[in-house]
Amino acid sequence: MYFPSTRLRRLRANPAIRAMVNETIVSLDNLVMPLFACPGEKIKNPISSMPGNYQLSVDMLVEECRELHKLGIHSVLLFGIPETKDDTGMIGAHEQAIIPTAVRAIKKAIPEMFVIADVCNCEYTSHGHCGTIVNKDVDNDLTLKTLAAQAVAFAHAGVNMVAPSDMMDGRIVYIREELDENGFSHIPIMAYSAKYASAFYGPFREAAESAPQFGDRQTYQMNPANSNEAMREIELDIEEGADIIMVKPALSYLDIIRRAKDTYNIPIAAYNVSGEFSMVKAAAEKGWIDGERITREILKSIRRAGADIILTYHAKEIAQWLKGEKTF
Ligand code: PBG
Repeated sequence: MYFPSTRLRRLRANPAIRAMVNETIVSLDNLVMPLFACPGEKIKNPISSMPGNYQLSVDMLVEECRELHKLGIHSVLLFGIPETKDDTGMIGAHEQAIIPTAVRAIKKAIPEMFVIADVCNCEYTSHGHCGTIVNKDVDNDLTLKTLAAQAVAFAHAGVNMVAPSDMMDGRIVYIREELDENGFSHIPIMAYSAKYASAFYGPFREAAESAPQFGDRQTYQMNPANSNEAMREIELDIEEGADIIMVKPALSYLDIIRRAKDTYNIPIAAYNVSGEFSMVKAAAEKGWIDGERITREILKSIRRAGADIILTYHAKEIAQWLKGEKTF
């Protein structure tokens, strides 16, 4: 049946009917707020390219988590900025390292907060690459050891979930086995499965002080041109034991999120990364766009594409805008 009997505008006539046929809802339950932990006390260093985000010493990080929890954000993703760096990143895996310390403090103060820790070496290596360097490139199999050591150290500290973001081959099964052998078979792994070598990570590298000192990450992160390869990465991570798979970045990769959702029966996370956040903030600051409306539209689109979980620096402000509501 065609016009004039068919008129789609009938279902857009007023707020009630629009709400009735609304297909996509974002809930605060779907959102995870990334946070940056740094050494020291009473430190709240603004990250210039990411307004509203800070490097936080552990005491301030706990305060931030308290506030987030009150606002209805019940999960955070932690990144660590260590006091000193080393060649392999092993420094991030000690009991007194920044992330284990931060995890213990948050879990003690707010036990209900679901704490996820990013597992990667780039914040902890002097060269800024995600693993151990051999012949000017990251050695895959040596790097697995430091990654697993980190995951186990974070689990000992009480983390709720680990999220390996390094893109080494075989890391999911390696980390799974190490966790299981150490008594952590109950700790889920959220795998950064389809992680692209992206310019959208620029602001994050300022925030985490993790820019590579030579070369780039193209020998381990994926070529933005590839979609079939993303399905292969995801499939392998599922076979290796991932509990949740992730697509990263989100906005330029909505097609990958949708394809993953249609192909695999597993929860899908999408990382609305730093560059995506900073572009919105910069344009809003200039008065060129309506920052709040654009943010809501972006998060809706990521969810509509098929993401169950969205990791986003907008999580806190969304909760503030919702003023006690839980969904939009
Ligand atoms: C660590 C890591 C990165 C991000 C998350 N984990 C940076 C990178 O791979 O260079 C990026 C997050 C963001 O841009 O918000 N490997």
